[in-house]
Amino acid sequence: MSLYRVLFVLTAIPSVCSGQNENSCNVGPKDQYILVGSDTDVVCQTSCVHGRIYWTLNNTSVDESLSTAFNSSHTVLSLRNFTHHSATLQCQSVASRQVLGGTTIRTYTKPGRISCILHHSNQLDESLPDLFTCKWEHRMNTPLAINYSVLGAYGSQLSQREICKSHITECKASSDPIKLLENITITIRAKTAAWEVDSDPQEFSPLHILKMIRPQLSVTTFSDHLSVEWKRASRSKECHCQVKYGELVNMTLKEGDGSLSIWNLESCRNYTFSVRCAFDGAPWSDWSEEKTVLTKMNESDVQLRLWRNVAEPEESGVRKVHAMWTEIPPTCGDTFTYTVKPYTRDGMEVNDTAALCRGSTCDLYVNRDAHTIHLTVFHNETLLSEYSVYIPAAGESLPGVTDMETSTLKGVILVSWKAPIQPVSGYMIDWSHGGNQYYWKESKYTNATLSDLLDKKPYNITVTPLFGNKTGHGTQALQICSGVGDPGNVTITQVEPNDKSALVSWNVKSEGACSGAVVNYTIFYGIQEGPQLNVTVDGTVQSLLLKDLNPDTNYVVYVEATALSGTTRSLERHVKTKRFDPGLITAVSISGSIIILLVLFLGLCCAIKWKNFKEKPVPNPGLSSAVLWPAASHHERVYPIQPFNPSESLCDRVYTEDTHTSTTLLTAGCDGNPASDQTDEYIDPDTFPAPDVQCEHPVKPVETQHLSSPDDSTALLPLENSPLSPYRSQASDEISASRSSKHCKRVSVKQPEKAAPVTVYVTLDMFEQGQGR
Ligand SMILES: *[C@@H]1O[C@H](CO)[C@@H](O)[C@H](O)[C@H]1NC(C)=O
Ligand SMILES: *[C@@H]1O[C@H](CO)[C@@H](O)[C@H](O)[C@H]1NC(C)=O
Ligand SMILES: *[C@@H]1O[C@H](CO)[C@@H](O)[C@H](O)[C@H]1NC(C)=O
Ligand SMILES: *[C@@H]1O[C@H](CO)[C@@H](O)[C@H](O)[C@H]1NC(C)=O
Ligand SMILES: *[C@@H]1O[C@H](CO)[C@@H](O)[C@H](O)[C@H]1NC(C)=O
Ligand SMILES: *[C@@H]1O[C@H](CO)[C@@H](O)[C@H](O)[C@H]1NC(C)=O
Ligand SMILES: *[C@@H]1O[C@H](CO)[C@@H](O)[C@H](O)[C@H]1NC(C)=O
Ligand SMILES: *[C@@H]1O[C@H](CO)[C@@H](O)[C@H](O)[C@H]1NC(C)=O
Ligand SMILES: *[C@@H]1O[C@H](CO)[C@@H](O)[C@H](O)[C@H]1NC(C)=O
Ligand SMILES: *[C@@H]1O[C@H](CO)[C@@H](O)[C@H](O)[C@H]1NC(C)=O
Repeated sequence: MSLYRVLFVLTAIPSVCSGQNENSCNVGPKDQYILVGSDTDVVCQTSCVHGRIYWTLNNTSVDESLSTAFNSSHTVLSLRNFTHHSATLQCQSVASRQVLGGTTIRTYTKPGRISCILHHSNQLDESLPDLFTCKWEHRMNTPLAINYSVLGAYGSQLSQREICKSHITECKASSDPIKLLENITITIRAKTAAWEVDSDPQEFSPLHILKMIRPQLSVTTFSDHLSVEWKRASRSKECHCQVKYGELVNMTLKEGDGSLSIWNLESCRNYTFSVRCAFDGAPWSDWSEEKTVLTKMNESDVQLRLWRNVAEPEESGVRKVHAMWTEIPPTCGDTFTYTVKPYTRDGMEVNDTAALCRGSTCDLYVNRDAHTIHLTVFHNETLLSEYSVYIPAAGESLPGVTDMETSTLKGVILVSWKAPIQPVSGYMIDWSHGGNQYYWKESKYTNATLSDLLDKKPYNITVTPLFGNKTGHGTQALQICSGVGDPGNVTITQVEPNDKSALVSWNVKSEGACSGAVVNYTIFYGIQEGPQLNVTVDGTVQSLLLKDLNPDTNYVVYVEATALSGTTRSLERHVKTKRFDPGLITAVSISGSIIILLVLFLGLCCAIKWKNFKEKPVPNPGLSSAVLWPAASHHERVYPIQPFNPSESLCDRVYTEDTHTSTTLLTAGCDGNPASDQTDEYIDPDTFPAPDVQCEHPVKPVETQHLSSPDDSTALLPLENSPLSPYRSQASDEISASRSSKHCKRVSVKQPEKAAPVTVYVTLDMFEQGQGR
């Protein structure tokens, strides 16, 4: 370290330590600002401790070699090429690790990268520049406010003059014309409360920092080209210019104004021009004002394109041809008329009365023969140009492409095919959704990418090879969707609730050819404001029995169809489960109906019996013929009756005997019904006492009332003579002690046992007949 600097630092210490006693410790100088990369010294007064000390910088220890003991009580740390933005230095005792004192060092930088220009406040005034603007860069790591001043010195002069002041890194001086012929040296001075620093001086040649006023541009259109011209300042001096109109054209002007002729621009298109210039090595002027011009139409340049899509012939051989062409851009005007006509191979115009044209398309109709479609364009009634496209005859032997393959990728359709054997000049691909609007493009390769398609729509794509002035046969690819859509609308068709379950049926109506196939259905159901349950079923299932529901509860059900491309859901259906199991209700109502029917039936039965009794007079034994019952045959005759066939009741036998009275028939139907007999046996009579009551009572009145009806109809007379009546009159005595139903049967079965008093009324014929059946 230089002795000079050490002495300087050391003489500074007493002031740092002033007022402190000899045995105090401290570090100085405090809060230094130094230029980044410069050197500095820090002194530690170590009077309060004995032994060695060490330094830390931002809490990391500093190389000991930088530290020097000046005398027993002062140690100096020498920092070289200091680049920290900010550092905290501490002096510590090695023995006690006690911090004896500390200080901070911050760095600042010089402003750099100075650039200055001379320019004009008035872009139309090409006199001497009146503005001088400088910019620079300054890395400021200080919270202190900085004042900048731009200092300038002309030529070799040493005296600097303040040109302008600012608080930011840009400064604009005005109203002080700069001398154009003498170099100027610029220095930027940055000043804060704590430090001041000057940039390195930079010399500028005024001609190299002089920015021209912007050029004055004019553009003229001609039928075949465009002329761009511009006026510029300082016409006698060489300058470079750039003309911009989408492209950028560089040119150097030796002297005079600029001009440029531009050919081969597109017809009927807007072009926007602007231009700027600069002296050699000097900054660009501002861009001139923009000028936009519309190019004129170059008739040979307007290349219309014509194409057609030929449908398969109808039965009559008529083929629909969709002709389409690109129109002359509307920017060229609207005085163009287009005519499309089919011609036969011999050049005869086809009278196509059905032709329908809209916009730039026409639907024409031709027969199976080869044709040519001509498109003629007229401009103001003069023929502008003519195009034609070939339509091969239906069976014409011409090449066509094969093995067409299509695929969809992110909304575009990729088509590829195999070239025909014959050489072709290219392929025309046309595609359409719905057949109303066609798109077409040409490809040199055996593939094409179709973009700008409608989303998720089916497309018909045709590829036609081109060769010479002919076309081959078109080959249509299988219809392909530009994307797979949602699965379609799901509708719940039916919900059949039970008490604890509900059958949900649904269907899905796909929307056109591009609906996604349903992978699975999820049925969501739940009570309102309750947890929602779901069941997922296979995409082939279209109904589901929801189980474990609560009876008499409102449920909300909906179905979601999931395809790979998305999901759709049905409307919600509200369904209330039944209070009881409908099966139980059915069983109960069926058995109830059976009981009611039974009761009615029994009632009817008894009523009829009662009626019979009521209407039937007790037979007069005097009118009957007494026949002796053959004792030998008695048991034989009765025996077959003993294993009474339940299906064949007493009434049946009565019926067989007297076949000619409807009343008897009724009676037979009643008593003789096997079902009723069986029912009698199965149902406990105690449960149904009503029939007994009905049967018991009607029977008795028969005895008392039959006398009051001696004028019974003759139809009943045969019954009066029948052997039945005595049974009944006898049975009526028993009824008081037994059930009527059992009685009826028992009468028929037991009767032979009690035959003795009854034989008087029975003829042998009856048994013979009854047994014969
Ligand atoms: C060490 O040097 C400083 C500065 O010159 C002086 O003030 C101080 O008294 C000296 N200390 C001793 C012990 O000599
Ligand atoms: C900076 O300039 C302002 C006036 O513009 C002045 O008041 C202030 O004292 C200056 N600061 C320094 C550090 O020079
Ligand atoms: C003026 O400055 C330029 C650099 O900008 C330098 O090349 C040229 O020699 C200088 N001219 C004089 C006369 O100093
Ligand atoms: C039309 O443009 C072509 C080049 O595209 C050119 O050769 C021809 O001269 C132009 N004709 C007119 C009338 O502009
Ligand atoms: C025109 O000049 C600019 C810079 O001067 C350069 O970047 C550009 O490439 C040039 N363009 C042409 C077409 O020469
Ligand atoms: C239509 O056909 C007739 C003969 O059939 C022919 O004379 C005529 O030129 C054709 N063209 C038109 C446009 O009528
Ligand atoms: C598209 O092709 C299908 C056969 O793949 C056909 O049925 C349909 O009519 C065609 N649509 C149009 C608009 O040509
Ligand atoms: C079409 O074919 C050409 C030539 O084989 C190939 O370079 C190009 O990548 C293909 N384009 C597509 C979209 O497949
Ligand atoms: C239903 O199908 C979709 C689509 O394949 C799948 O992501 C999902 O896991 C399926 N759900 C069930 C429950 O299988
Ligand atoms: C279906 O229910 C299960 C629980 O059973 C649940 O984890 C799942 O998140 C539900 N799925 C949907 C789509 O709500």
